[in-house]
Amino acid sequence: MLNDLGTKREEFFPGVVQQVQQTDHHLVFTCANRAGLKVEILADGLLRFTFSTEGAFARDFSYAVFGQNKPSPPAFEFKELADHFRITTQELICTISKNGLRTRMMDRSGQLLNEDEKGFHWEEHQDYGGDIVKMSKVAQPQEFYYGLGDKANNMNLRGERFENWGADTYGYGKGSDPLYKNINFYMGLHQRSAYGIFFDNTFRSFFDFGRERKDVTSFWAQGGTMDYYFIYGPTLLEVTQKYTLLTGTPELPPLWSLGYHQCKWSYYPEKVVKDLAKGFRERQIPCDALYLDIDYMEGFRCFTWSKDHFPEPARMVQELKEDGFKTVVIIDPGIKIDPDYWVYKQGMENDYFCRRADGPVYKGTVWPGLCHFPDYTREDVRQWWSGLFEGLISEVGVKGVWNDMNEPAVFEIGTFPNDVRHHFDGDPGSHRKAHNIYGMQMARATYDGVKRFSYPDRPFTITRSGYAGVQRYASVWTGDNIASWEHLWLANIQCQRLSISGISFVGSDIGGFIETPDGELYIRWLQLGVFHPFCRTHSSGDHGEQEPWSFGEPYTSLARKFIELRYQLLPYLYTTFWQYTTQGTPMLRPLALLDQNDPECYDRMAEFCVGDHLLLCPITQAGVGGRRMYLPLGEWYDFWTDKVFFGKQEFWASAPLDQIPMFVRAGAVIPFYPVQQYVGEKEITELTLHVYYSANTCQSVLYEDGGDGYGYEEGQYQQKTFLTATSLTTYSLSQQVQGDGKEAHETYRVIFHGMPAATAAVLVDGQDVPFEASENQATLTVKVPATFNQLSLHSVMPTT
Ligand code: GLC
Repeated sequence: MLNDLGTKREEFFPGVVQQVQQTDHHLVFTCANRAGLKVEILADGLLRFTFSTEGAFARDFSYAVFGQNKPSPPAFEFKELADHFRITTQELICTISKNGLRTRMMDRSGQLLNEDEKGFHWEEHQDYGGDIVKMSKVAQPQEFYYGLGDKANNMNLRGERFENWGADTYGYGKGSDPLYKNINFYMGLHQRSAYGIFFDNTFRSFFDFGRERKDVTSFWAQGGTMDYYFIYGPTLLEVTQKYTLLTGTPELPPLWSLGYHQCKWSYYPEKVVKDLAKGFRERQIPCDALYLDIDYMEGFRCFTWSKDHFPEPARMVQELKEDGFKTVVIIDPGIKIDPDYWVYKQGMENDYFCRRADGPVYKGTVWPGLCHFPDYTREDVRQWWSGLFEGLISEVGVKGVWNDMNEPAVFEIGTFPNDVRHHFDGDPGSHRKAHNIYGMQMARATYDGVKRFSYPDRPFTITRSGYAGVQRYASVWTGDNIASWEHLWLANIQCQRLSISGISFVGSDIGGFIETPDGELYIRWLQLGVFHPFCRTHSSGDHGEQEPWSFGEPYTSLARKFIELRYQLLPYLYTTFWQYTTQGTPMLRPLALLDQNDPECYDRMAEFCVGDHLLLCPITQAGVGGRRMYLPLGEWYDFWTDKVFFGKQEFWASAPLDQIPMFVRAGAVIPFYPVQQYVGEKEITELTLHVYYSANTCQSVLYEDGGDGYGYEEGQYQQKTFLTATSLTTYSLSQQVQGDGKEAHETYRVIFHGMPAATAAVLVDGQDVPFEASENQATLTVKVPATFNQLSLHSVMPTT
C-alpha cells in the first residue's frame, strides 16, 4: 500500500508496555521497543497524550497552547488491571491497553466517547527522516464531526479527508483543500455526547473522517510528535469553550472594529480615499474603517508610502479620523530585495531573513518582485518586526493592520521550499515544521507592534493564515472568495466553522473578492455579513465597483438598512464578544451546538445563532422570496413581524430582499444603540431594550465599557444581568449591575414584544409610570431610568 507521500508503507506499532512511571499529574508508559506514551491529566475533562517512538519525548513546546490557560491538575485514580491500565477523573474513564497503547475514553457512566482503532503507529519518513506519526480511531455509527477551521465543505466533516498546509488559494471553491488556515481541532458527537481532539503538530497534517475506511477516523502528520489533547464536553459548546480557553482568547477589540469596514484592492490616490469617505457620510451609510491595500506603498515596500499616491499620509489619516474613519493598512511578509530600502538593510544587517538549508538567504517572488522573508519564529525578529510599526501607528495614525500572504505565499511555486530553515524559538527546523505556524507568528509580531504603539488604545489586526491559537493575535477573513451564490453559502459555513474552532472574530469578503456581484447577491451577502463579527466589504477592484451604493436603488437603501441594523446591534455583538473573550464561547453557533439532543440539528448548516439570542438563516439563492429552514428547540419571534414560532420544526420563512430570516429567542432582552455613522459619533443617553415575552424565566446579559482602552481591566465596565419572569398577572424585568463603570446612559426605552395580555399599569421600582401600547396591546413601550432595578407590567385581560 502507498502512503500519501507515494512511498511504500511500513508501519510500526508500540508493542507491549514494560514500565509505568507516575509523577504528579503525568503517567509515562514505556514499551519493550522503547515506544512510549505520556498521559497528562490537565483537568477532569482534559487529557493530553504524547507519544514517543524511541524512548525520549521531544521538547515540550507549543505555539498553540497558552501556558497560563492550562488549568491546575486535578486528583485522579490510576489502576493496573489484567490487560489494561485505567485512569479515572471526576468526568472521565480512560483505559490504555497493555499491548499497543490503545486508549478508550468513557464518561463516568461508562458510555463510550471515543476509542482507538489501531491507535498510535508510525512510519519512517524516507526522504526527511523522523516519523510520520499517525493515530486512528473508531468512527462510531452515527458519529458526526465538526471543526477544523476554514474548510470549505459541509458542516459535518464525516466522509471527507482534509489536509492542513496553509495555502494561498485564490478563487477556491467548495471542496478545495487545503485552504489558508491550519486548525488541527475537531469535535465528535455521538449518542448525544461530544468530545474534541486537538492535534498539536505543526507539520503538514491530515484528517480522515471515514473517507478511506468508513468506520475509521484518523489523523497524521509528516513529522513531529503525536501530541493530542482529548477534550470532554459533554456538550459541543463546552468542548469548543475548553478548546478556545486552552489555545487562548483575544482581548476585547476596540468597539469601532465591530463597525462596518470598506476595502478594495486598492483605493488610491488620496482623492479616491477622500471621495470614498465622503460617499459614506453624504449617503448616511455608517462606516468605521477604510482600508489601504498594497498600492499605498512605494513599489510594494512594506512600511513605506507612495509619494505620488499619498504625499502626506499623516494629514490624510488625521482628516479621515476627524470624520470618524479609522485607517487600516495591509502588510505582507515579503521584503523587497533593494539595497536602498531601510527595512531590507536592517533585515540583512541583522540576519533576520530565512535561509536555505545550504546557507543563502531565501529568495521568493511576491508583489514587490524578489523578496526575502523574516523568520518570525525568532523572538528577536518578532521584536524587530513589531518595532517597524512605529511609523505607521505613532507617526501616521493608522489604527489597524491587515496581515496578508502569510501562508507564506510565493508566486509560481506556492510557498517556501521545504529546506528553508526556521529557528522555531530554539528548536531549529525546516519549513516542513514551521510552515503551518509562519503566518501566526507574523500576526503575533504585528499584533505586538500595533498594540505597543496604539496603547492606551486597543490594537486591531487581521490575518489570512494562522495556526491554532491565532485568535489571540488577530481577527481573520476567509481569503480570496468569488462573487457567486455558492460562495455566499460557503462564507456562512466557513465563518461558523472557524468560530467553533476557537476563531470567532471572523468574516468573509462581503460581495465576493473575485468578479462582481449584482445588487441582489450583494444585499443577500451583506445581510449575512452584518451578523459576522468581522464585517468588511472587499473586492479585487478590477471588475467593477463594490461599495454599498454601487448597485443603485433599491440596493443602496437596503445596504444602508442592514448596516444600520449592525450599528444598532453593537451592544449585543460586543457583549457576545465579551462572552467569547472571557468564557471561550463561540460567537457564531451552528445548530448542533444549540441542541445536541435533536438529531435534526446535526447536519444543518444554514441556520446559526450569533450570541445567545439571535438566530439567522441567510438566503443563498437568487430570485427567491424566502426559504425552508429549521428552528431548534424553544419559542422564537420573527424579528420582522413579532410572530411567534415554535422550534423543532421546519417551515417556509418568507424573506423578500429587504429581510433575512431572523429570529429572537423568547425571553431575550436585546439592547439597541441608536444608528450612528461611526462608533462614538453620538453620546448614547438612551439605550433601547427590546424584551421578547416568554412565560419562562429568562436571563440576558449586556456588557459595556469604554469601548477602547484598558479601563475595563481596572473594573471600569458594567455587566448588566436582565431577568424576565411572569406571575399570574404581572410580567417583570429586573436589572442587576456588576462592575465599577459609570452608567453610560440616562434612560432606557424598553419595548416589550408579544405581550399576551393588555397592560393596565407599569411600575418602575414601585412608582407608576406612563407607557404606550400598540393597538392590539401586544407591544408596549416605557421609558425608565437606566439605573432601575425592577420594572413590572400589570395586566388586566388577555389580548386577542
Ligand atoms: C491577496 C489578498 C487580498 C488582497 C490582495 C492584494 O489576494 O487575499 O485580500 O486584496 O492580495 O493585496
